[in-house]
Amino acid sequence: MKRISWKSPSNIALVKYWGKHGVQLPANPSISFSLNHCYTETSIQLHEGGTGIQSFHFEGEAKPSFIPKLQTFLDRVNPLLPWLSDFGLEIHSKNTFPHSSGIASSASGMSALALCLADAHAAMHGEEIDRQLASELARLGSGSACRSVYGGFTVWGETAHITGSSDHFALPLLDIHPEFMDLQDTILLIDSGEKQVSSTVGHGLMDGHPYAAARFEQARDHVGRLKDILSNGDFMELADLIEREALTLHAMMMSSDPHFMLFKGGSVSVISRVMEIRATGEPISFTLDAGANVHLIYPATYADKALDIIRSEFLGYCQDGAYICDSVGKGPTKIS
Ligand code: DP6
Repeated sequence: MKRISWKSPSNIALVKYWGKHGVQLPANPSISFSLNHCYTETSIQLHEGGTGIQSFHFEGEAKPSFIPKLQTFLDRVNPLLPWLSDFGLEIHSKNTFPHSSGIASSASGMSALALCLADAHAAMHGEEIDRQLASELARLGSGSACRSVYGGFTVWGETAHITGSSDHFALPLLDIHPEFMDLQDTILLIDSGEKQVSSTVGHGLMDGHPYAAARFEQARDHVGRLKDILSNGDFMELADLIEREALTLHAMMMSSDPHFMLFKGGSVSVISRVMEIRATGEPISFTLDAGANVHLIYPATYADKALDIIRSEFLGYCQDGAYICDSVGKGPTKIS
């Protein structure tokens, strides 16, 4: 079979997935948007007669250390794609964002790989590619990856607020106010170090966490509220909700056993300043992943002002003054 290649974006969660059970099932629903510039390009080549992952190259270099994680993914998708057992898989992958930026590449990487496999499945069976199947496959590689198979805003996890939503795959959120269709995400690269806590360990910290039940309930409530905010276009309401989400994620890590503190001094300085600026009525907000980098979220109409603030006040907190300007993206594309 000929080579199949896809490019797929990273995403930023506004309501966070933190806690999982079973085979990659989320403890609560989450909402994110796909990015426009931060993505992974992956191509696969299937070799008849082989089996399992035969090789993995990242940015042109063989990376055998990634193979066990990829093999686990392949073993998990096998029941859905049984034909895979009769092929060996060669994978080449590269990111558009710097490897050492502290930006997780599992969402873009696993979604790109899942889209390649969904395509291979379609070629084998003569069926159209089904994004829902691609999302389900991506979830088996990394939870957040299932949200990256679409452009725009996405929901993953069963919620009474969204018809058809499921713990098994993500769905696109379609009723989005035009103001939010080009929402900006400027990622301040405050710390590019290795992750202190892997996401699997991080999710595991929610098992037996004293605040777990309240957190999952809060996230379920936030999903319903964010869905309404995304359609009514009120930025200040969005800001209030996404900051509470980001801070709760970190509060969960700070209060788990063992506990972690993933903020750096620079993260706290930026966050406090953003809250101060917004209190004067300016439309700027933040969210965080499970790391120290701060994602500044603001409307496109505020971009000039935001960039002035970033350059005059925040660059000193960024390692080597580095930041990435991104925004809501259109989702994955097939590379011919
Ligand atoms: C904080 O999707 O990386 O970014 O399913 O173990 O691969 P695994 O976890 P992962 O967790 C993402 C956690 C988060 C929040 C989010 O993206 O919703």
